[in-house]
Order: sequence, then structure tokens, then C-alpha cells
Amino acid sequence: MAGTTWCAIGRAELRIRNVAGGVGLGESGMRTQVLIAYCTRSGSTAEVAEAIGKTLRETGLVVEVKSIAEVDAIAPGTEVVLGAALYIGHLPKEFHQFLNRFEAELGKVRPWVFVLGPTERERKQFAAAEEQARKELGKHPSLHPADMRVLGGKFDPASLKLAFPMKLIMKVPGNPLRKVPATDIRDWEWIHRWAGAIAEEIAARMCVSPMIR
Ligand SMILES: Cc1cc2nc3c(=O)[nH]c(=O)nc-3n(C[C@H](O)[C@H](O)[C@H](O)COP(=O)(O)O)c2cc1C
Repeated sequence: MAGTTWCAIGRAELRIRNVAGGVGLGESGMRTQVLIAYCTRSGSTAEVAEAIGKTLRETGLVVEVKSIAEVDAIAPGTEVVLGAALYIGHLPKEFHQFLNRFEAELGKVRPWVFVLGPTERERKQFAAAEEQARKELGKHPSLHPADMRVLGGKFDPASLKLAFPMKLIMKVPGNPLRKVPATDIRDWEWIHRWAGAIAEEIAARMCVSPMIR
């Protein structure tokens, strides 16, 4: 039934029907309820974005997972999840540009943000990455994340796709990064649980005022 939203809160029962409305139609022709916009260099952030999208879709939400370069607009009422990775203590320039470009739209929502970084399971690495991520996001004072999580990342010297000047730096013989063994500490079980919590929060938001969103 178009225009109906069921809001049974609780992971197993979570079922959200699309609210009728003509804005922000996704590829399926249904109104996009959640946009997951990611910024990736070597693909690991994109894979996390897809995994979150899969979990959200399983709860019945209409989700679009897009690279930030593919996002033309963020329709009013769309919930947003943002993902990017740290490079030398910073979020990529194009991610900052995206946040600036959609400052008005993102300022009206409470997005979830995930930041990939540490490639070793060391508390120190996670603490440093958390500080870097907060500092970087702090450059956008109108952005008020509902939650921001630093997630373990992936490092594989064989499949790195870097932008200048990192591309050049990585080619320099003797660069210690070239000797670092490949790692992938992305915790898919945790990511699945976090996405489930996001779905529940979205359901709760819809229950407050489903028809005026
Ligand atoms: C050249 C380079 C620099 C990096 N710098 C940082 C950093 O400063 N802090 C951090 O936590 N992780 C850092 N990382 C780890 C990346 O954030 C991690 O590999 C992430 O999974 C990459 O995401 P992507 O595959 O979506 O580009 C760096 C990785 C590379 C290759």
C-alpha cells in the first residue's frame, strides 16, 4: 500500500515500506530512502559501502550506493551514509569538495559517517585515526553526524590506486610502505551490525513523522 510506513522497531521485525512521493527516484523507480556516498582510491571503502547497503536493503529500505562522483543531487528526506578513507592523516580532497558542494543538503540531515584507516589492530592506530577523522570532519561545521566510526581498512601494495603525489611517493625505491605486507582488517560482522543499528535508527526517525519527511 503506497504511503504506508510500518515501524516495528527491532532487527527481526524491521520492515519499512516506501513512502509515496515523487522526489529522488532511484534506479528501481522507487523513492530512494538512503543514499550511501563513498570516496575510495583503492576500492576498500566502496566494498564497505556496498556491504552496508546490502544490510539496509535486507530491512526493506530503498538504498542507492554511489561513488561521490556519481551523486548529482540529494533529495530532501533522503537519509545519508558517508564513507571515505584516511590518507596521510587527511580525508581526500574530493571528499571535502563533496561535503562543500552538498553543505546545504547535508546540513539538514544527520548522516552516518564511516572512515577507513588503520590497517593493523592496534589501539594506538585507531586512536590516531579517530583524532584525524574528527579533525577533518570538523572542517565542515554544518555537518552533524548521527554517528562517526573509524573502521579498519585494507592495504595491499600490489593493488593500490593512488592519486598524485602519493602515486609517485609509493614508487620511490626505499619507501618503507613498499615493504609493508598486505593486510585487510575490515570487520564484516561488525559492519553488518552497525548497518543494522542504522536501519533501526532510520525506522525510528520515520515513525516520528513518516508522512512529512
Ligand atoms: C599511502 C597511504 C597512506 C595512508 N595513510 C593513512 C593514515 O594517515 N591514517 C590511517 O589510519 N590510514 C591510512 N592509510 C590506510 C587507508 O586508509 C586504508 O588502506 C583504506 O582501506 C584505503 O581505502 P580505499 O581502498 O577505499 O582507498 C593509508 C594508506 C595508504 C596506501
